[in-house]
Amino acid sequence: MDHFEYRDGQLMAEDVALADIAESVGTPVYVYSSATLKRHFRVFREAFAGVNPLICFAVKANSNQAVLKTLAREGAGADVVSLGELMRATNAGIPGERIVFSGVGKTEEEMEAALAAGIKQFSVESEAELEALNLVAGRVGKIAPVSIRVNPDVDAMTHAKISTGKSENKFGIAWTRADAVYARIKELPHVKAVAVNLHIGSQLTKLEPFREAFERVLGLVRDLRAKGHDIRHVDLGGGLGIPYDPEAATPPAPAAYGEMILEVMGDMDCDIILEPGRLIAGNAGVLLTRTIYVKTGENRTFYILDAAMNDLARPAMYDAYHGIVPVAEPAGSEKMTADFVGPVCESSDVFAKDRKTAPLEAGDLVAIKSAGAYGAVMASTYNSRPLVPEVLVDGERFAVIRKRQTLQELLSLDSVPSWLED
Ligand code: LLP
Repeated sequence: MDHFEYRDGQLMAEDVALADIAESVGTPVYVYSSATLKRHFRVFREAFAGVNPLICFAVKANSNQAVLKTLAREGAGADVVSLGELMRATNAGIPGERIVFSGVGKTEEEMEAALAAGIKQFSVESEAELEALNLVAGRVGKIAPVSIRVNPDVDAMTHAKISTGKSENKFGIAWTRADAVYARIKELPHVKAVAVNLHIGSQLTKLEPFREAFERVLGLVRDLRAKGHDIRHVDLGGGLGIPYDPEAATPPAPAAYGEMILEVMGDMDCDIILEPGRLIAGNAGVLLTRTIYVKTGENRTFYILDAAMNDLARPAMYDAYHGIVPVAEPAGSEKMTADFVGPVCESSDVFAKDRKTAPLEAGDLVAIKSAGAYGAVMASTYNSRPLVPEVLVDGERFAVIRKRQTLQELLSLDSVPSWLED
């Protein structure tokens, strides 16, 4: 459930009319609902009744510091993958002991900063990284808490580009190697094994791949403990899907996911860390955009929007479905078929093809739904289009939480070398 609904003929974000935001901030603009963010976080937490998992929001899904702060106040930790994300999380008030650091290419600079922040866990993704982390920790006189990200070689049955748990993916260390790697941790003086972690992919719509992977990992935890490793927690990653397309199968509810995890965990005396991103932020945001032109082609109608693939890359990158709805509630039930496209010079700059929609006119506002995760964070300035702003709504109030980049700011990043000066 989200908080974007029609009221008196107007699409609202909580108690604010999206049309008012467009009027005041311009379009395109990302709009997030605080109530939805909080609700999703609570629903997810409540799915683990009786257990108190550490929920580390995957910052890559939405890294705006106001969004992070909203979640931090609910008790969220953070899953970060870069120094920038680590800084965003700490700026938002998330303490080091609630931060886990994933990613296949952590640099020494990132390791040092994370050690200084006292993070809970380095999710180590290769043997080379483990050796590097040991050296860095030794240099700064610390012991790095380590978890090996194991690759369980399980098919997540999701889009190939967001699948991470198969042996051909670059992520993690083969689970068959885990034993040897944990043995190596014991030999190294500046790292200490505290956990095992995994993440098999994103937008999963079935529980079975999760279950298969989790069972594999728990078997491993038992073996490691038997060998004297002090494994205190398991980090089960993120990946639970959200409903994007009302006509597609509905992904499992957080409650069913939680139940399955508690069942698999059984009597393992282990704390649980989870890293949801999309589930928390996805349906808490829309991309608000205006129709620039209506173009009637030979056999189709194009709605040309002022948002484009550089602002929301998901449809172009993953053929992702996003609902698109008019901001002014359609008066009648008339429907037609149209393509929603952006102005970028690429044939893939299409948000929706052959979409059934109420008829629109130039100037009409539309909301591209489910854009709160992997939306603004993946934006680029392709075609020299400035990054779009972000707005956070809370009840009747709203605030710009990232201002629109100006063309001046964008252009001033370039510099012309002396030999080209006139
Ligand atoms: N933990 C790790 C280690 C991850 O790599 C990811 C996502 C997550 C947690 C969060 O997964 P979530 O709960 O959001 O599914 N840009 C793509 C999604 C890439 C996900 C990458 N890793 C998209 O727009 O669909």
